[in-house]
Amino acid sequence: MPTDVVSAAPLTPIAPARPWHIGLIGFGCVGQGLYDILQQHPASGFVVARIVVKNPAKARTLPAERFEFDADALLVDDSLDVLVELIDDANAAFALVAAALLRGRRVVTANKAMLARHLPALVALQRAHGGTLLYEAAVCGSIPIIRTLDAYFGTEPLRRLTGILNGSSNYVLTRMGEGGTDYGPALAQAQQLGFAETDPSLDMGAFDPRSKAVLLAAHAYGLFLDPEQVLNLGIEGISATDIAFAASRGQKIKVVAGLQRLPDGRVTALVTPQLVGPESPLFGVDEEFNGVVLEADFAGEQFLRGRGAGGHPTGSAVLADLAALRQGFAYHYAKTAAPPTHATDLEIEIYLRTDEPRLIDLLDFSEVSEEADEDGYVVGYVALAHLIAHRDLLREYGAFIMRTGQLRPIGEAATPVLETASGRV
Ligand code: HSE
Repeated sequence: MPTDVVSAAPLTPIAPARPWHIGLIGFGCVGQGLYDILQQHPASGFVVARIVVKNPAKARTLPAERFEFDADALLVDDSLDVLVELIDDANAAFALVAAALLRGRRVVTANKAMLARHLPALVALQRAHGGTLLYEAAVCGSIPIIRTLDAYFGTEPLRRLTGILNGSSNYVLTRMGEGGTDYGPALAQAQQLGFAETDPSLDMGAFDPRSKAVLLAAHAYGLFLDPEQVLNLGIEGISATDIAFAASRGQKIKVVAGLQRLPDGRVTALVTPQLVGPESPLFGVDEEFNGVVLEADFAGEQFLRGRGAGGHPTGSAVLADLAALRQGFAYHYAKTAAPPTHATDLEIEIYLRTDEPRLIDLLDFSEVSEEADEDGYVVGYVALAHLIAHRDLLREYGAFIMRTGQLRPIGEAATPVLETASGRV
């Protein structure tokens, strides 16, 4: 090594910057998680200066004088370096975040339902007024998936993204699969542990992972989807019969989001229960953990796994956004410059279990490969568009549906042409 390198002057220590002042809106599971992390790590360089909550009467873990009740007052407080929005109500959250971005402010949010509904407007507000919005905590808790897609894979095309994006439903499936616990008690446990949404049907009906899939589509493909366009099938109708069906094949049931580029360049997006075998990295993603498999054109396959729900893991993602903001980071949304179109004119192989034969007629299977009258299930191909059109009715009748195979173009019997390189899930 050259001596001039060895004898170079030591690096000058960077003077500690003034801590950034946070205006925190919402003090639920994630808000408390963030607060607790900052208390445990005062050297992080962030202090919670003001906290706004909705309900003055609610008992809280901090003295009453720490709380105030007018979120608008934080929007105009220029002594706050950043606003952190962690409330439940998606409409109120949009009003606050939009107003903050109109003022050119820095904002961190974890509100996936709000973001999925309003992302194009929020991106436009940032571009017009110079504010910055980050939301790593909105998808997969502690897994740095948004920043990975936006910054690292901002240029490289992706073939496929496959992920378990909801901790609560994964927890319920794990309890049912491993412990033989019934659905109801397993869901109650997920709620007690603070994984579930205030309305747990958002988790169990796959509305929550659908919002997350919409956000991932924006960063992975540059595609802004209306959440309603994305098929979401949940696990409210699941029974021990379905778990046994999967186990008899050495597989597990997972709620999986699949984003996939088709050979013609269009992109599909759907969130459904799915059979997953031991060859998939998602097979071992249990409890409240989330996992994402990326298949990139040049990098090949990558797998990220981590805690997908809970105050500390999600608070950790908020802290990572705060640190990124302090370094001047903003999302690039690079792929939105040339977005693909969204494809739903496909068939999908499913397992449908129902005691209502009319549902089988309604879905109009183009091909049936297996039928078991005693267990009430049928396996075969149906049009994705039929599932999208009838998903509310299927839910209402308590049917359980899971994906068992690949997508294929309509009318191409016995040709799973959309298999990708790994073909794992
Ligand atoms: N209810 C969500 C879940 C919380 O279970 O994944 C994290 O977004």
